[in-house]
Amino acid sequence: MTDSRESRAKAEISFAVNGEPKTVRAYPMERLLDVLRQQLQLTGTKEGCGEGECGSCSVLIDGILVNSCLVPVLQAEGSSVVTIEGLAAGDTLHVLQDCFLECGGAQCGICTPGMILAAFHLWNGKPKPTMEEIQEGLSGNLCRCTGYSQIVEAVAEAARRGTAA
Ligand code: FES
Ligand code: FES
Repeated sequence: MTDSRESRAKAEISFAVNGEPKTVRAYPMERLLDVLRQQLQLTGTKEGCGEGECGSCSVLIDGILVNSCLVPVLQAEGSSVVTIEGLAAGDTLHVLQDCFLECGGAQCGICTPGMILAAFHLWNGKPKPTMEEIQEGLSGNLCRCTGYSQIVEAVAEAARRGTAA
C-alpha cells in the first residue's frame, strides 16, 4: 500500500442511505461501518468481531448483504445502502422487528440488526422460506445469547404473517 498524501486524503463520497441521498467526507478506505455510525449517526449497525466473521455489521448495498466492517466506504459510491434504521416505517416496526421482539429473538441486541437484515435479504428472495432455508440464510450471522431457535422462529413467524417489503 502506498503512503502518499493522495492515498491519505479525504474525498467526498455520495450514496443513498435508506432512500436519502448522503455525501460524506471520508478517507476512501475508511470502513463503511464507521462512516455509518460516526458520520451519519446510524448506530443501529453494530460492530462485533470487526473481521467479517459475525455479521453484526450487516447492511444491504444495492440489495446485496455485506459486512460493513469489510467494505471501504469508496465502494459504496453511487450505491443504495439499507441499514436497520431503514426497515421501520416511522414508529411502525417492520414485521420482522415485531416478531424478533415477540419471539425473544433479541437479547443483548448486538447481533439483532444484522440478523434482521439477513432475514430481510433472505425473505426478499424467498417469501416462504423453510426452516432449513432460514437457518442457511442466517448462517453468516452469529449470536452468543439466544441459541438461535428464537431467531429462526421469529423469522418463520414473520414469514407466516406477511410479505417481505
Ligand atoms: S463486525 Fe463485521 S462481521 Fe463482525
Ligand atoms: S442477542 Fe446477544 S449476540 Fe445475539
